[in-house]
Amino acid sequence: MFPRNIVPVWLSAFTLLLLTQVSTSEVTACEVAVDPPADIEIKDSGFLGYLSIHWTRPASLQNLTDCRVRYQLQYYDTYEERWRSVRTVKLTYAAQFDLEKPVKVRMLTMLKCACTNGTEVQGEETEKVYTPEPTGMAGSRIRDFHCVYYGKEYMECTWESGPVQPPNSQHYLYYWHREMDETKECPEYIISSEVRRGCRFPRESLLEFSKFNMCVNGSSPAGSLRTAYFSIEVQNHVKPAVVSSVHVSEMDGLLKLAWLPPSGLVPEHCLEYEIESRTLMANGKEKQQRKILENVVLDTSYDLRKEAESKKTCFQVRSKVNMYCADEGFWSDWSQTKCIAKEIQCISIWKLLSLVGLVVAGVLIVLCLSLWILKKICIKKNSKKDALYTLYKQKVNENVPAILSPIFK
Ligand SMILES: *[C@@H]1O[C@H](CO)[C@@H](O)[C@H](O)[C@H]1NC(C)=O
Ligand SMILES: *[C@@H]1O[C@H](CO)[C@@H](O)[C@H](O)[C@H]1NC(C)=O
Ligand SMILES: *[C@@H]1O[C@H](CO)[C@@H](O)[C@H](O)[C@H]1NC(C)=O
Repeated sequence: MFPRNIVPVWLSAFTLLLLTQVSTSEVTACEVAVDPPADIEIKDSGFLGYLSIHWTRPASLQNLTDCRVRYQLQYYDTYEERWRSVRTVKLTYAAQFDLEKPVKVRMLTMLKCACTNGTEVQGEETEKVYTPEPTGMAGSRIRDFHCVYYGKEYMECTWESGPVQPPNSQHYLYYWHREMDETKECPEYIISSEVRRGCRFPRESLLEFSKFNMCVNGSSPAGSLRTAYFSIEVQNHVKPAVVSSVHVSEMDGLLKLAWLPPSGLVPEHCLEYEIESRTLMANGKEKQQRKILENVVLDTSYDLRKEAESKKTCFQVRSKVNMYCADEGFWSDWSQTKCIAKEIQCISIWKLLSLVGLVVAGVLIVLCLSLWILKKICIKKNSKKDALYTLYKQKVNENVPAILSPIFK
């Protein structure tokens, strides 16, 4: 279960003290006592709650041959608040525990031999409880820890300081997943007003579909701060980017909405969409509708039957990782609102405007043309007149005496 190269960590890891042991009446089979496993130990290798449990075969079954010995291990899952059960022939098992809560383990031995007539005899159960001692100042544990994996590109986990915050205190975040040999410190702290408020993880530091463990502890001149532990699966914390380029059109009485998948690294088949439509009716009332599309056919469009009395319809789209790719996720922010107004209104306004424009332009052109033609005609007439007059004057000058000439000037 663990890589070989972490054996030194094993040796240095301390074994948790087992505080309680509950044991009841004895069960026997084939004239031997079916005792619970012996030397149960819970080892903390420093993987922030990923603990390994070790045990040995009980002494009473040491000399037994021709038998199959199995162990049943139950442990309390503090994240899901229920007991989990495993059966194994091995002498070790590893599971995730919350180190801020008691670690509870129950074990029993199961024996199947020729002398048990082929049935599996269950021995009695033993329970081990370990309550980790909290370290650090009471009330200094951080609050409101939450993680968002933005578009599967990077993850941000943020927190608020605890109610008790000694001056000059500094927070540290450490993380671990099963492909790491040891814990590492946060690759990039998010700092606001010179205080560490979160951690930014690049995609390469994350591992999906596996426990991703984190702890936030801290130090201050007045002493250490209380450690907080978290274990998440990063694929359940994805928030897609905003849906871009939403387009709406109208055709055959249907309002057709189309968009492009959000940017980022969430595969298209992993997205579902929610459409919100708000229709303004002729009577002034607004009708709101929401519809979730699970997107099993990779469709990024949606048709809405147009309401007869609608004046205007507006759409918004948002997306989330669907149930085929994760157990949960966050909705993206809403896209920009795109509206379509009633066609007649819309078109008549534009038609009217363009008609007026056309008419004005036509009138102007006609006016200009007629002015130009008028001018041309006038000039022609004048020049003709001038020519006639000159001719006439010549004739007169030839035939009329000079005394009368001023009359014809
Ligand atoms: C198992 O066998 C060994 C040696 O044969 C003996 O010393 C020991 O007492 C036996 N243990 C039990 C539980 O019978
Ligand atoms: C197995 O079966 C025999 C006879 O059928 C019986 O005497 C014996 O008690 C049984 N043993 C167990 C462990 O059930
Ligand atoms: C915080 O936790 C890490 C990982 O367990 C540990 O190495 C480190 O020493 C701790 N720091 C403080 C200040 O407690």
